[in-house]
Amino acid sequence: MLRIQPGVNMQSEQQQKYRDDYYATVIDSVGDGVIVVGSNGRITLCNPAAEQITGFSQRQAKGAEFDKLFSLETTLVEMLTKTMRTGITISDHENVVVRSTGKITPVAVTCYPLVEGSGENIGAILTLKDITYIRELEAAVRQADRLSTLGTLAAGLAHEVKNPLGGIKGAAQLLEREFSPESEMLEYTRVVIRETERIDHIIRELLELASPRALQIGPVNLHRILGDILLLQKQAVVDRQIAFVQHLDPSIPEIMADYEMLTRLFLNLICNAIDAMGVDGRLTVTSRVLSDYRMTQNQRNSRMVAIEVADDGPGIPPEDLENIWTPFFTTKSGGTGLGLTICHKIVSEHRGMIKAESDPGHGTKFTVLLPLVR
Ligand SMILES: Nc1ncnc2c1ncn2[C@@H]1O[C@H](COP(=O)(O)OP(=O)(O)OP(=O)(O)O)[C@@H](O)[C@H]1O
Ligand SMILES: [Mg+2]
Repeated sequence: MLRIQPGVNMQSEQQQKYRDDYYATVIDSVGDGVIVVGSNGRITLCNPAAEQITGFSQRQAKGAEFDKLFSLETTLVEMLTKTMRTGITISDHENVVVRSTGKITPVAVTCYPLVEGSGENIGAILTLKDITYIRELEAAVRQADRLSTLGTLAAGLAHEVKNPLGGIKGAAQLLEREFSPESEMLEYTRVVIRETERIDHIIRELLELASPRALQIGPVNLHRILGDILLLQKQAVVDRQIAFVQHLDPSIPEIMADYEMLTRLFLNLICNAIDAMGVDGRLTVTSRVLSDYRMTQNQRNSRMVAIEVADDGPGIPPEDLENIWTPFFTTKSGGTGLGLTICHKIVSEHRGMIKAESDPGHGTKFTVLLPLVR
């Protein structure tokens, strides 16, 4: 551990070394990425957070020409060139992404001129902030807005349909009694009754979706929920070659949540995964704790538990991926398309997040994040 003690008399060389180490420690401790570029365009400093964001190690970065190393990131290079030329500070919190890690990381960037005491411009400092979580949260808010409008519409419609439907069912039940057991009409009446019951089920789900029920919060053991669902589902598909794999972190404590709602959530996700797979496949359920997951910019970092339900089915085509949360979006002949809408609502009510990732042809992964402490 480095300690600078002002006032202690040291040799000037030693003092200089301490000072250098001190500043290096300060820069390394900054949570945002910091890259310093000299007037010759070469990188002189790159802290660990910048390493993580860009995917370039300090060894790769130090001494490298900035515009060569970041040749893919034209916006970043343009910002740096402008600051070096004009000596002004430039920020861009919207348009910059970094690709070198193999994935696209959205970043908020500020580029400051590096000015010596004499006023001479000797380079530039770039600060990079990974805003992946902020982008995810913005998308979740947009999604929630869309769903709440649709939910209100659907609820209105459901109310309108509910009463006439009751009338149809009642009349069909009366008719059923009128026909003799041999009558062909009896079968038709039963079809009417069965189908009205199916519509009634959809309407009940829709109404529940739109009118929030107060959560019944209590301590919930997530692994028990997952274990119970998997046990039952294994039985339901004994005639198929589906492997059920569980990677559950035993250190996850009970969370405060609604047991019934979470059962519904994971049952929906696991049934969807099973529906997606053919006669054989592999369903993997994983749980782990994410420490310091930042839900919003202003909120304190909170510990979240992540539960993933992954399958190796056909996946979801990119054009469908954004529609799967929409009520009634289904690609199944017998599906209602309400399952994931309900899942989304349950997770939002628990102040969590849900996301879907899919690699068409290789499978789909749903990740649910729930706060460990409410
Ligand atoms: N694991 C998965 N793999 C592939 N596609 C999926 C998966 N999960 C969901 N989907 C797609 O998303 C659609 C919507 O799912 P959702 O659960 O909302 O409705 P559903 O399963 O079709 O009907 P239900 O209301 O009975 O659940 C599905 O029809 C399917 O196309
Ligand atoms: Mg479903």
